[in-house]
Amino acid sequence: MKEKVEMLCKEIIEKINSVSNLKDLNDLKVEYMGKKGIITELQSGIKDATDKKEYGMQVNTVRTAFNENYEEKLKQLQEEEINKKLESERIDVTLPSTKIPMGAPNILEKVIEEVEEVFMSMGYDVVDGPEIEEDRYNFELLNIPKGHPARDAQDTFYIEDEKILLRSQTSPVQARTMLAAGGDKPVRMICPGKTYRRDADDATHSHQFMQIEGLLVDKNISLSDLKGTFDVIAKKLFGEDIETRFRPSYYQFTEPSVETDITCFACKGKGCPLCKNTGWITVSGAGMVHPNVLKNCGYDPSVWTGFAFGFGAERLAMLKYGINDIRTFYQTDLRELALFDRKGDN
Ligand code: DAH
Repeated sequence: MKEKVEMLCKEIIEKINSVSNLKDLNDLKVEYMGKKGIITELQSGIKDATDKKEYGMQVNTVRTAFNENYEEKLKQLQEEEINKKLESERIDVTLPSTKIPMGAPNILEKVIEEVEEVFMSMGYDVVDGPEIEEDRYNFELLNIPKGHPARDAQDTFYIEDEKILLRSQTSPVQARTMLAAGGDKPVRMICPGKTYRRDADDATHSHQFMQIEGLLVDKNISLSDLKGTFDVIAKKLFGEDIETRFRPSYYQFTEPSVETDITCFACKGKGCPLCKNTGWITVSGAGMVHPNVLKNCGYDPSVWTGFAFGFGAERLAMLKYGINDIRTFYQTDLRELALFDRKGDN
């Protein structure tokens, strides 16, 4: 028996040593320790042994030899496996990375955000209004009654019975804001948003464009407050050396009404193609809120006064970034938009 055990131990050590993967090692375990394994069978021979104690000890020697060698090999093979895996999944951090194209904010959005920031710093709220609007807000409350020729200038998309329309300007938000404020407190708001007109698209017209409306209502507000406000925004957007001027104009909802100009930033007022040699560029319509509009929207014009203005957002962006076709904003040509991105970076 002793000899047999010694041979068995030798055999086990040799076999386990020669194994080079976990599967073969497991097969060995089945071969020796499985239900019908060599060691298991050896153990069941105990019942026929004459010296059971001695027999038991010998079997234990084989079992221990197997277990010790098995555990050691198992550890070694598992380590090798992990190392192999680590090696195969190694990341070479020195390899050049794949270039991910970076997006950038749309230029129109960027200009609008810039304007919002300046006005917010002066205490204005940024408000929103519906694009599908009622005739009442878009025209009537703004002192443009039915049949008035001023309506012709804004070739409107009507949706229902001349009552519901796609707003042709952001000015209806003035009426909505004043009505919501209730006629007894000051209002300071700007409203950037989409507007629609039945215009044929060309380099300077688009059937859909964006305006930035502004309204301030308070006590003792005069045209010089509008001038001061406009000065601040013009300098912030176009540079500290920009000068501004007002020219008389006409809008139904303001009295007096003005066109606001800035000195041409391309030629500094000397005259160039951008300003058509006038030295000035028009950037918005504006004026003192018409007493009828104040009244229509619940404000007593003998107590309250205010000013309003409307910028064309694309026009601002076109001027600021030297874009000469409004359609570029709406045609999603990535090559053009990529140029915008770069322009927007400075
Ligand atoms: N709503 C005008 C337009 O679309 C622009 C405008 C002019 C808005 C004067 C105003 C304003 O608030 O006071 O042409």
